[in-house]
This record gives sequence, structure tokens and C-alpha cells, in this order.
Amino acid sequence: MRFGYRFTHSVMGLFALSILGADAPDQVAIERGRIALTSTGYLKPAWKEETYKKVGKLWGFEAPDPENDPEGYSKAFNKRYGLHPAPFPNDGYPMGLRKGNGPNGTKVGLQIDCLVCHGGSIGGTSYVGIGNSQLDLTSLLNDLTIAEGRKMPPALFTLNTARGTVNAGQIAAVLLSVRNPDMSMRTFPIPLGANFPELNTPAWWNLGPKATMYHDGRTDASSVRSNMQFMLAELSLQEFKDLESTFADIQAYLKSLTPPRYPFPIDSTRAELGKAVFTQNCAKCHGTYGSDGAVESYPSRIVELKTIGTDRVRFDGTTDRLVKHYNATWLGELSPVSEVGIGYQAPPLRGIWATAPYLHNGSVPSLATLLKSSTRPNVYRLPRSAEFENYDQTNVGWKFEPVDTALDIKALIIYEARHIFNTSRVGLGNGGHTFGDKLSEQERSDLIEYLKTL
Ligand code: HEC
Ligand code: HEC
Repeated sequence: MRFGYRFTHSVMGLFALSILGADAPDQVAIERGRIALTSTGYLKPAWKEETYKKVGKLWGFEAPDPENDPEGYSKAFNKRYGLHPAPFPNDGYPMGLRKGNGPNGTKVGLQIDCLVCHGGSIGGTSYVGIGNSQLDLTSLLNDLTIAEGRKMPPALFTLNTARGTVNAGQIAAVLLSVRNPDMSMRTFPIPLGANFPELNTPAWWNLGPKATMYHDGRTDASSVRSNMQFMLAELSLQEFKDLESTFADIQAYLKSLTPPRYPFPIDSTRAELGKAVFTQNCAKCHGTYGSDGAVESYPSRIVELKTIGTDRVRFDGTTDRLVKHYNATWLGELSPVSEVGIGYQAPPLRGIWATAPYLHNGSVPSLATLLKSSTRPNVYRLPRSAEFENYDQTNVGWKFEPVDTALDIKALIIYEARHIFNTSRVGLGNGGHTFGDKLSEQERSDLIEYLKTL
């Protein structure tokens, strides 16, 4: 009896696999990708493990004791640097920091990974793939290095002036400039002229529908190799090649992600009215969505700079020399970056309630201020955490506190200064995207109600 049952069970399992057909391998790749992303580091360790417990001494106040109160210490650590508990096993470290691979695959020392920027939380729940709205990467890297008694190498560019935004583009451009077209390392950088600003990290859950990606839409969204740029600091061409299939799995996983639903009540009558406003004023660029928020159609439209009118520094940062050099390497071989820049890509708006601040440079704190440009604050204090106490359900996004422009931000201690977003800085301008201005107050608030459903 028992044998018979097991036998039938496994035969049925095989049968189920075969009728699932073409979709089945995808699910398997997605799962491989999830594991590859959340369980493995692809860089060498940069810091000793014990350094995690030492950095608290640099905070200028009595930090919880990492030995006697590990939970208190980890909370304080996460708050300090804008990190979040890992929603997967991570040896007790926050998402984005992990044990690195030493010689022979041993896990020794610490390193950062994709999720330092691409993992975050909202309302106390962590998500893989939400852009980290709290991150202070400069402080994290500085403090870990200083706590080991080492000096930070001189900064070649500003990584971040405020929390949440990060100059990932310039990291990639600088690393690429010390590679030859055959990917061998150079002593002297090639002058590529690239000069990127700090950027808002896009949510991975909107990657699925995209034909092109990055804020300027110049890269084919099916490019696996472009997702590997983060490892340019260390990997040899052969190592890149060996990891390509793993990154194809990771990409399949990223494309499978979906956003969390809006957790507060939604007025369905007003949302229905808002949907009509959206269809008329927004859908041609941002696409259309079903009742469950799923994408029905998405045009992957890149809008000319003069029409969108948002800050142009990110756009100008992609120089012809950078594009030509990237395209000459293994990274650009299969999916070259487009030689023609148009403007910025209108992203899908799935899960938009959870991804404030808005625009490619994170310069606008809420949907209400995005859709009425005269109300956008120029200098303001950012939320102190991604908890719901700092979340604004009416304006949808972060509560913010305007800062008197007479305030001398430079005179503040750095921890405080990085809680202030200053739109007068290069690349952080909050102009443009004025498509909501012409709407009536009623239409705008109905529209915001609708956006909560996506
Ligand atoms: C230092 C922060 C940081 C790290 C680390 C990082 N990214 Fe990103 N990522 C960004 C930012 C910022 C952008 C937007 C860049 C732009 O458009 O100019 C981005 C864009 C992307 C996009 C395009 C998303 C879209 O919809 O346009 C993908 C895919 C991506 N990153 C994958 C990865 C992977 C995989 C890793 C790790 C191997 C990684 N990133 C590491 C910050 C980071
Ligand atoms: C002409 C095309 C176009 C129209 C019309 C348009 N948008 Fe956009 N939208 C864009 C582009 C392009 C961006 C990205 C701009 C940037 O980041 O600099 C954007 C960005 C956004 C963002 C921020 C996305 C993010 O992740 O930060 C939101 C929200 C948004 N639009 C909502 C709307 C709504 C609501 C409407 C209708 C009132 C609308 N848009 C009309 C092109 C458009």
C-alpha cells in the first residue's frame, strides 16, 4: 500500500512537470536566481567581521553593547546607516551587508552587495528590490574602514550628500575608466568625461515590463551583463564570463518581483474617478493597469528632455566617450547602450505608493507635491526612518519638514546634514514633470487615490 502510494505520487509529480511545459524552467531559474542573490556575495571581503561590532564607538553617543544587547546594537546600526533587517538568512547582518567569499569559498569578512541600495523597508517590513530610501552609503563605507584603523582613499566624487540617494552611476563610470576594452585593468584611467549625480534607486519590481532600463532608458532591459557592473572593481573577464549564467538567473528573479499592496484603506469611488483622470493625462507615458494593479500595457516610453523638463545632469552624465567605451567591452557586446540620448524613461507605476521620494534624483517627497509643482519643497528634512509614523497617507509619500534656506547645512554634524535634501545642489533639481499642474484639486486627489491601487 505504502509503496504504491509513493510510486503514484512521484509519477504524478513527473506528469505535472511535463504538462507545466515551457513555464516550468522559468520558475526554476527564478528560484535559482533568488538563492544566488540572497545567499552569495560576489566580491572579496572588504572588512573583518568583528568590525561590525566596533563601529558603534564612532557614533558619538553610548551605543548599545553588541555583546550583551545584540538586538539593540543591530537596530542602532541599521538606523545609523539606513539599513534594514534581511528578509532571508544572512548570518545576523542587515540586508546589503554580508559575509564575503574568501579563498576556497570560505565565508570570511564583510562586504556590501546589490541589496545595500536595492533592498529596503517600508512600515517595518523589508523587501528585496525596493530602492533603499534611508541609505547613507558614504557613512557606512567610511565608518567600517575607519573602525579598522585604515584611512578612506581620497573621494573622487560625491557618493551621497543626503540619505536615500546614491551616485551609483559614477561608481560604474569610474570603475569602467580603469579597464581597457578587453577588460584588463589599467594604471591610468581613460578620460570618459562622465559626471553623474546622486540618484534614486528604481524598484526592481518594475523591471519586468520594461523594454529599456535605467533612468535614461538607453540600455536594453534584457541585458544581463549590465547588471554585473557592480563587480567591476574586482572581477577578471574570465570571472565575469563564469558568472554570466548566474546573473541571468538573478535577472529572471528580479523580473518576477511584484510590489506590496497599499496597506491602508482606499476610497474606491474616488479611485475610480481618479482612474479616468489617469487614463486621460498619464497613461500614454506610464501605461495602463488592471484592477489588481498589474500592468495591462506599458509603452516603455523615453520622453524628450525638453518635454519632461526634470534635472538634466543625469542625462548629460552619459557622454559619447563613456557609451563608446562601454560598448567596446564585453559588458556592452550583446546589448550596447544606445548612442542617442533622448531624455528620461517614464517608469511603470506599480507599487508607486511605496517608493517615495520621486523622480530619478529622488528630489520630490510625495505624490501630491509631484503633481502640483508649486508645492515642491526646495530644502527639507527627510524622514528619520521608513516606518509608517513618517508616512503621509494623504499626500502619499514621506512627511517632510521644510528647512529655512538660511540654515547653514555645512555647519551641522554630518549625520544631521545628511537628513537634509537640498534641491539647489548639482543634479538634485526638483523642476519639470508638470503634467499634474493643470488638474483641479479634486481631480488631483482622486488621481492620488487611484495611484494607491497600483
Ligand atoms: C550603490 C548602489 C547600488 C548598487 C550596489 C547596485 N545598484 Fe543597481 N541601481 C542603482 C541605481 C541608483 C540605479 C539607477 C541607475 C540609473 O538609471 O542611472 C540602479 C539600476 C539598476 C537596474 C535597472 C533598473 C531599472 O528599472 O531601470 C538594475 C537591473 C540593477 N540596478 C541591478 C543591480 C544589481 C544586480 C546589482 C548588484 C550586482 C546592483 N544593481 C547594485 C544603485 C545600485
Ligand atoms: C509625457 C509623458 C508623461 C506624462 C504625460 C506623465 N508622465 Fe509621469 N513621468 C514621466 C517621466 C519621463 C518620468 C521620469 C522623470 C524623471 O525621473 O526625471 C515620470 C515620472 C513620474 C513619477 C515618478 C516615478 C518614480 O518612480 O519616481 C510619477 C509618480 C509619475 N510620473 C506620475 C505621473 C502622473 C500621475 C501623470 C498624470 C498626471 C504623469 N506622470 C504624466 C513621463 C510622463
